[in-house]
Amino acid sequence: MHKMAKPFLEKCKKLPASRYPVWLMRQAGRYLPEYQTVRAEAGSFLKLCHSPRLAAEVTLQPVRRFNVDAAIVFADILLVAQALGASLSFEEGEGPQLSPVASEADLASLNEDASALEPIYETLALVRNDLPSQTALIGFAGGLWTVACYMIEGHSDQKFLKALDIVKRDENLLKLLIEKLEAITFLYLEKQIQAGAEAIQIFESHAGLLEGDKFHQWIVEPTARLVGALKKKYPEVPLIGFPRGASMADQKAYFEETGVTVLNVDRASAEAALLLKPLGVLQGGLDPQILLQGGPAIEREAERIMRLYGPHHIFNLSHGVLPQTPPAHVEQLVRFVHESGV
Ligand code: CP3
Repeated sequence: MHKMAKPFLEKCKKLPASRYPVWLMRQAGRYLPEYQTVRAEAGSFLKLCHSPRLAAEVTLQPVRRFNVDAAIVFADILLVAQALGASLSFEEGEGPQLSPVASEADLASLNEDASALEPIYETLALVRNDLPSQTALIGFAGGLWTVACYMIEGHSDQKFLKALDIVKRDENLLKLLIEKLEAITFLYLEKQIQAGAEAIQIFESHAGLLEGDKFHQWIVEPTARLVGALKKKYPEVPLIGFPRGASMADQKAYFEETGVTVLNVDRASAEAALLLKPLGVLQGGLDPQILLQGGPAIEREAERIMRLYGPHHIFNLSHGVLPQTPPAHVEQLVRFVHESGV
């Protein structure tokens, strides 16, 4: 018997897959009533991330409900900032709050404790044990630039002006911060692989804040080092990069120069297909807004995306599932991709 019968992993390797794989970013979360129940039991989002048994349960919920082809471990990109010593909290309705890093002295005063990440490895091991044989397990981390943005800003922001100001004014601080993030992220991802992650996704959610030379310096170069080190040690583990919001030219450079196996795209356009398809396997493309409406638009758009990006394509969204999404629409999408995708 062929050892690997997981359509998601086969697609990552450009091997023929028994079906068109689909999973969704933020497939575990607030739009699922069973998530709300477990989150209430945990008491808070961060407590949930740090409770392996409960985190494993919410990781598996969308797998059971929708039969998606991959589970993504329930955690957050900002847990790495917390492990570096930043204080982290999530205020109801306000998003994350961190102690901001404004100077090299602030950075030096952080007390790093990588053991804070250990519950995540335990979650991965629990999930891996309970996963159906055809479902893959994905581990993840934030992109180094994106986590640096949150650490500098101290909260979510549309513009991240403090981070952009550091790019202009204090390259040395940014360099030191990115280097710290690179070291801990390598360790974090390596331990996720050792605990059972079969693929890794890097969420560079704020890639669109930089372009051209700056994009290259602060995103492509550090990511290429991280990806190179992981590939050297774990050549069989697919790495998915997601430079969200970057220009088409920058996304192309990211795919060509970082060495990621798969690129998650943030749009469904003929231009993206033309530029990016020749470079490797693509993932993503469906605007999460389409899942709010439901109806035939879901099938129409899914069909268009499969034509545009297939056959070397893993179905997913352009960004995470929105909290107001009716679960029935997710079910409709997953069934359609499985039944009509080739
Ligand atoms: O199902 C999955 O995708 C796995 C879990 C996951 C979460 N966050 C859980 C979460 C993943 C992969 C992430 C990644 C993440 N976290 C990103 C990158 C992807 C993106 O959205 O761009 C970013 C930027 C973060 C940081 C973050 N976490 C913010 C800004 C917020 C608040 C805004 C929001 O969407 O709620 C979070 C909270 C968060 N992370 C929730 C979940 C389920 C909501 C927490 C709750 O239950 O209240």
